[in-house]
Amino acid sequence: MEGLPVLVDSFGRVATDLRVSLTDRCNLRCTYCMPPEGLDWLPKPELLTADEIVRLVRIGVERFGITEVRYTGGEPLLRREIVDIVARTSSLGAELSLTTNGIGLARLAAPLAEAGLHRVNVSLDTLDRDIFIKLAHRDRLKDVLDGLAAADQAGLTPVKVNAVLMRGINDHEAVPLLRFCLEQGYELRFIEQMPLDAQHGWSRANMITADEMLAALRAEFDLTDADPRERGSAPAELFLVGGGPAKVGVIGSVTRPFCGACDRVRLTADGQVRNCLFATEESDLRSAMRAGASDDTLAAQWLAAVQTKKPGHGIDDPTFLQPARPMSAIGG
Ligand code: 5AD
Ligand code: SF4
Repeated sequence: MEGLPVLVDSFGRVATDLRVSLTDRCNLRCTYCMPPEGLDWLPKPELLTADEIVRLVRIGVERFGITEVRYTGGEPLLRREIVDIVARTSSLGAELSLTTNGIGLARLAAPLAEAGLHRVNVSLDTLDRDIFIKLAHRDRLKDVLDGLAAADQAGLTPVKVNAVLMRGINDHEAVPLLRFCLEQGYELRFIEQMPLDAQHGWSRANMITADEMLAALRAEFDLTDADPRERGSAPAELFLVGGGPAKVGVIGSVTRPFCGACDRVRLTADGQVRNCLFATEESDLRSAMRAGASDDTLAAQWLAAVQTKKPGHGIDDPTFLQPARPMSAIGG
């Protein structure tokens, strides 16, 4: 029997993890992502419709054996059809997860779980209301915390929390953030800040490195390497806290790149296949779809796009060029 074709690139990496951006808009303005005034949002006609999203996800799962679909943004909960999109893609058999800032989860966690969502990743960079306001330009910390609790309650577990530490802003919060997540039973991962902000404000020197994060945590907690098999192609290096079972992850996207094991492919909110956050090229499935392309044609175009995937992002190279589109348009 013939196996499914897979989304394999020229280095032999197979994409099984599909990240789908549902909108480029957001209700926060995290400094590592957007300027306080927001961005020029994509005009609505350029966004994929819910039907188009469902069609492409179905092609990814049915034709290419995608095993994990993660809805992202911008802020995916701002997409009105989110529950509908989850419901219509939940029967395909892939794991469904959502990366969100948590605002709106208090209301949506239960309906999303009901619709077939499996898990959430929620961004939480601080536990301090004033720092939250400084960092995200909105007074919404309480909404995020309520959203986290609702996700836990709705069984979207393990609830994962992503934190980006920034020098002089929230880098003193590594320990309090971990303590909070341990208490609540959330799985925390610290992420090195990547050059993805629309304002191009990233600097290598201001980035808190994975080594620095670990040193800060080790001052308070006993960390031991978790079974390396647990890492797989997942970017987080996992550590047991106090001998386990609690864990903490550190994602050294810049200083410990994991591009060689990358299993991701992205679909932007306007229907472009993107092989990497840092890719400089995209393949326009939206135009093909709107010109009447068949599933076969779309699948062929998708596979051709993945075959051109570059070996890595090279952020730590002096010649590195930041992508033209910010993270909110590409999908986290
Ligand atoms: N560097 C690292 N992580 C980022 N995120 C957003 N922008 C950046 C950046 N420049 C994180 C968010 C969210 C996830 C999608 O990516 O905090 O948790
Ligand atoms: Fe994959 Fe690109 Fe991330 Fe590297 S930077 S791990 S190639 S998505």
